[in-house]
Amino acid sequence: MPLALSQLMCAPCLNCLPSGIGLALCKRLLTVDDGLHLCLACRNMGKAKAARAALLASHSGAQVTMVQVDVGDLQSVFRAADELKQRFQRLDYVYLNAGIMPNPQLNVRALFSGLFSRKVIHMFSTAEGLLTQGDRLTADGLQEVFETNIFGHFILNTWV
Ligand SMILES: NC(=O)c1ccc[n+]([C@@H]2O[C@H](COP(=O)([O-])OP(=O)(O)OC[C@H]3O[C@@H](n4cnc5c(N)ncnc54)[C@H](OP(=O)(O)O)[C@@H]3O)[C@@H](O)[C@H]2O)c1
Repeated sequence: MPLALSQLMCAPCLNCLPSGIGLALCKRLLTVDDGLHLCLACRNMGKAKAARAALLASHSGAQVTMVQVDVGDLQSVFRAADELKQRFQRLDYVYLNAGIMPNPQLNVRALFSGLFSRKVIHMFSTAEGLLTQGDRLTADGLQEVFETNIFGHFILNTWV
């Protein structure tokens, strides 16, 4: 049965491709039905091509296409959604698994001011206030984590 499937694809880098949930899901889906049509929606087309090659290596009969999208950029999301609508009559499933989670950093200023305060024991026993997480504003004026993990997916899903 032909099945048009758009997937936001995890392809972190060529040598750790198997670790991404998106790639693992693609492999699993093709194992169940290698007649599926998968469309990999990726930000980095080099990684998308590598993921496609990896999938075709194990499922040579599969139909695997690609579309470029950065879910942290609304213009890119609208363009990708329009392209998907033009290329496919329907999408049966959309897997929205792209995401970022910036690593927390030590807040050096909080560390030094906490050292000379009455909160020092509390600070070291709970680490409260010691860690900070960077979350820059995107060109769309949204917090990057929110736009990437939630809003971009919402708009893409709505627009297609
Ligand atoms: N793995 C876990 O145990 C776990 C647990 C809970 C939740 N999650 C969540 O599940 C999702 C997938 O996890 P994962 O382990 O597969 O993560 P991953 O290996 O880091 O893959 C994340 C993928 O998202 C893509 N991505 C990031 N920003 C993007 C953007 N602006 N536009 C398009 N693609 C973008 C990345 O593409 P690039 O290669 O271009 O960077 C990467 O391929 C993430 O949201 C993660 O936070 C994972």
